[in-house]
Amino acid sequence: MIDRVGVVGLGYVGLPLACALASKLFKVIGLDTDLEKIELIKKGETPVYEEGLQELLKKVLEEGSLKLTSSYREMIEESDACFVCVGTPSNPDGSVDLRYVKETVEMISESLRWVDKYFLLIIRSTIPPGTTSNLIKSILEEKSGKKPRQYGLCFNPEFLREGRALHDIFNPDRIIIGAIDEKSKELLLDIYKRFHGESMPPVLITNPTNAELIKYASNVFLATKISFINMISQLCQRLPNADVKVVAEGIGMDKRIGREFLDAGLGWGGSCFPKDVKAFLKFGEEMGLCFKLVESIIEINESQIENAVKLAKELVGNLNGKKISILGLAFKPGTDDVRESRAIRLIEEFLKYGVEIKAHDPKALEKAKKILGNRVNYCKTVEECLTGSDLCILATEWPEYKKLNQETLKRHMRIPALLDCRRLYDPEEFREIKFAAIGLGPKEVRGP
Ligand code: UGA
Repeated sequence: MIDRVGVVGLGYVGLPLACALASKLFKVIGLDTDLEKIELIKKGETPVYEEGLQELLKKVLEEGSLKLTSSYREMIEESDACFVCVGTPSNPDGSVDLRYVKETVEMISESLRWVDKYFLLIIRSTIPPGTTSNLIKSILEEKSGKKPRQYGLCFNPEFLREGRALHDIFNPDRIIIGAIDEKSKELLLDIYKRFHGESMPPVLITNPTNAELIKYASNVFLATKISFINMISQLCQRLPNADVKVVAEGIGMDKRIGREFLDAGLGWGGSCFPKDVKAFLKFGEEMGLCFKLVESIIEINESQIENAVKLAKELVGNLNGKKISILGLAFKPGTDDVRESRAIRLIEEFLKYGVEIKAHDPKALEKAKKILGNRVNYCKTVEECLTGSDLCILATEWPEYKKLNQETLKRHMRIPALLDCRRLYDPEEFREIKFAAIGLGPKEVRGP
């Protein structure tokens, strides 16, 4: 039985996991090589915004169940298993840059050389199929000097949504364990059984390669679902009286399809889908396969930006010199993350047309500034963002933007016009102003 665990890489995935494990009777030691980050976390501050994380971090620090370090030696001494949650960024050609995973496994393995104990290594970073059984296993054996059965190794993917990470850790749909042998499987399964207790979710036990593939296939499938509905949204825009929201509702009522991930909009962004979809395409290529389906979903995703620009032109005419207010910069609501944000992509596109951009976001302004710099005016309130503008675009559907009504737009804007790129609003409520939305067909005009 293992009750002392390490977590390496305290980002969006690792920090919530470390806090959650520490809140459930495990002694956790979190490791990050970024010293500033470690100091911040020690003070109870979270470097990333996640619902409920700050409170949980403070609690586990006070209880003494979470310790922090930047020393691999210390982590190995104070744990018997460790979850590797370091980043796997993209190489320029779209393939996965495994540098951080390799470095981490090397450091862990070198420290293991000096201790005479069984240790379970659990990889949670998203890596191409085959990596655990080949690359990781050979680094581990070479650098630690350990032979099979003197160590354990699993690939155990995460399915956390940013902003909902703690919720998803405590209530996962499933747990996938890709283990190299029986003992590794038993030990990891036991950790999860003690973590979830009575509410243990369904578990699938397999080999590491299948588990690695399950992670990629899940994200590619979800991105495909979104691109599918975005394709339908482009069709709806050409059909009088069509509405993608109703179509999605109807499709989703089929249990085999399901309603989730059928929200049409600007497309998928964030730190996972764009990276994983490209990596999957590249991986297929390396295996001698050309995934036309995956190429198409990327194309559709890109075309939603052009689609939004086209709708903006239809509303306000020539874009040059126009003032546009953008509501929402995060890649989705509930996070301050702007990586691969579609809102930022849209802004970059508008800037090419000589548009003046004012932007608002409840949480992501600081992170957006790092990308867009002084090319955009950042506003503290929605009203300030709307003032004097020719067009308001809803780019990220934060719930607080739902309050917006046509009176407010009329009061503050030069010309009240709204483009709903995330289908947050009821078009009927904006009848007195210019209004357009992704996936909304033109109103049929009948003669007398
Ligand atoms: C995604 C997956 O949902 C997680 O299961 C997975 O663990 C994670 O990637 C990962 O690989 O680590 P996340 O990137 O946090 O999670 O965000 P999602 O909520 O999946 O949204 C991704 C993008 O799709 C966002 O830009 C969102 O606006 C967009 N989206 C989502 C749509 O355009 N329509 C939808 O119906 C749903």
